[in-house]
Amino acid sequence: MTQPATAESTLPGIPGRGPEDGPATDVVGRPLPEFPEPPTRAGHGPARIVAMCNQKGGVGKTTTTINLGAALAEYGRRVLLVDFDPQGAASVGVGISPHELDLSVYNLIMDRDVELSDVVRPTAIERLDVVPANIDLSAAEVQLVGEVARESILSRALRPALDDYDVILVDCQPSLGLLTVNALTAAHGVLIPLECEFFALRGVALLVETIDKVKDRLNPDLEVDGILPTMFDSRTLHSREVVQRVHEAFGDTLLHTVIGRTVKFPDASVAAEPITAYAPTHRGASAYRQLARELVARGRIA
Ligand SMILES: Nc1ncnc2c1ncn2[C@@H]1O[C@H](COP(=O)(O)OP(=O)(O)OP(=O)(O)O)[C@@H](O)[C@H]1O
Ligand SMILES: [Mg+2]
Repeated sequence: MTQPATAESTLPGIPGRGPEDGPATDVVGRPLPEFPEPPTRAGHGPARIVAMCNQKGGVGKTTTTINLGAALAEYGRRVLLVDFDPQGAASVGVGISPHELDLSVYNLIMDRDVELSDVVRPTAIERLDVVPANIDLSAAEVQLVGEVARESILSRALRPALDDYDVILVDCQPSLGLLTVNALTAAHGVLIPLECEFFALRGVALLVETIDKVKDRLNPDLEVDGILPTMFDSRTLHSREVVQRVHEAFGDTLLHTVIGRTVKFPDASVAAEPITAYAPTHRGASAYRQLARELVARGRIA
């Protein structure tokens, strides 16, 4: 399954420089390392918790949570998706109907009698489980304000999962409120999906400031695992310029992997499947597999 480091395969679907023109490079001209297939693991855990975070809406947080999760599961990792957005899009995206839920992540964080095992649901993808959410969660933002240790409620709730999973991906809502702060307090790493359009960078300074505050006050070990450009359009210079700006501002925190814009992602959401199952050979599926391999190669995920 390991692919050669040609521009076409290493940045799936995104033209860069192939071996015939010299060494392969990424969108901003950095040499492209080869990301090998992750080695198989003997057992499972301890899990790394990664929060998918950007207060801007519609940038690919949920798409990345689902598809990175599915790609890691394909590579043998045990993955738990935590839907932490009252919109419930991550739950729907893996085939769970939010209105039919007896228990959701809301009960997990607000009700002391509810345990993680009560709310975890399997998905159609092997090794991929989900803690679903629905609109109930919208009340938690206000209700949490009065709780003791209100920022670390999710962290405590997820503790029993650390030994059973290799990766826990938390899909945040588009805000920097108390729910997102809970995700950042629980997390070991943050992944920032960034849409390749002109105003994308505007909110990132505020996001980084929030991450730094959480790091200072609540979670000193929190790291930014990477910035992931999404909805990259290889036909326009514009997308490339946005990624270039991200590189100038954030250096190698910018991942090599770039997710191209394709209608296969909304199509897969409608089918309630990860793209790796809906269109396994599509370049969108290859891109998320590459993201999984890059994060393992960078030592972010074991
Ligand atoms: N690479 C892509 N190419 C084309 N469409 C995409 C891509 N990634 C995501 N989309 C689509 O864009 C829309 C927003 O994506 P997504 O729901 O993942 O963003 P989000 O950041 O989770 O949004 P929100 O902030 O509302 O939670 C969805 O319809 C999704 O299918
Ligand atoms: Mg979302």
